[in-house]
Amino acid sequence: MERTLILIKPDGVQRGLIGEIIKRLEARGLKIIGAKFMQVDEKLASTHYAEHIGKPFYPGLMRYICSSPVMAMAWEGRDAIAIVRQMMGKTNPVEAAPGTIRHDFAMITSRNLTHASDSPERGEVEIALWFKAEELVTWDRTADSWIYDL
Ligand code: PPS
Repeated sequence: MERTLILIKPDGVQRGLIGEIIKRLEARGLKIIGAKFMQVDEKLASTHYAEHIGKPFYPGLMRYICSSPVMAMAWEGRDAIAIVRQMMGKTNPVEAAPGTIRHDFAMITSRNLTHASDSPERGEVEIALWFKAEELVTWDRTADSWIYDL
C-alpha cells in the first residue's frame, strides 16, 4: 500500500470544502489513517517546501500556507499517489481536467486548494514530517474486500 500526505490548504478550509474533498477521497476507496486541523508555522512550511526555495513563487507559497489553518491528512491505498494526484488535477486549475478537485473548485495556481505527495518516497517523508508515529492509526476496513479484489 502507498501512503500520501494530503493538505487541504487555507483556501479549502476557508471556503468550506473540507467535507467535499474528504467525501471524494473516501468515495474513491482511499483509506484515512491520520488527520489534524492545524495552523502551519514557518518552520514546518519551509521544511515542507524546501525544494522550492529560490523559486519566484516561494514567498507567496509560504504566506499562503501559513495564512490560516489547514487540514493535514495521511491517506493509504493501492497506487494512492497516482490516484490522489489524478483526483486533484494539474497544479494550474486552468489545465485541470473536468471532474478533478482543482477543475471543479479552483481558478488559479496560487489558490489551488490541495497538496498531495508526488511519489511514494515523498509520501513517507512528508507523513513523517507532519505526523508523529502515534498520530497514525492502523485499522482494518471491512469494505476493503469490496474495493480491492481480495
Ligand atoms: S515546480 O517548479 O514544477 O517544482 O513547481 P510545482 O511542482 O508545479 O509546484 C510546487 C508547489 O508550488 C505551488 N506553486 C505555486 N504557488 C503559487 N504561485 C505559483 N505561481 C505557483 N506555482 C507552483 C504548487 O501549487 C505546489 O504546491 P503544492 O502545495 O505542492 O501543490
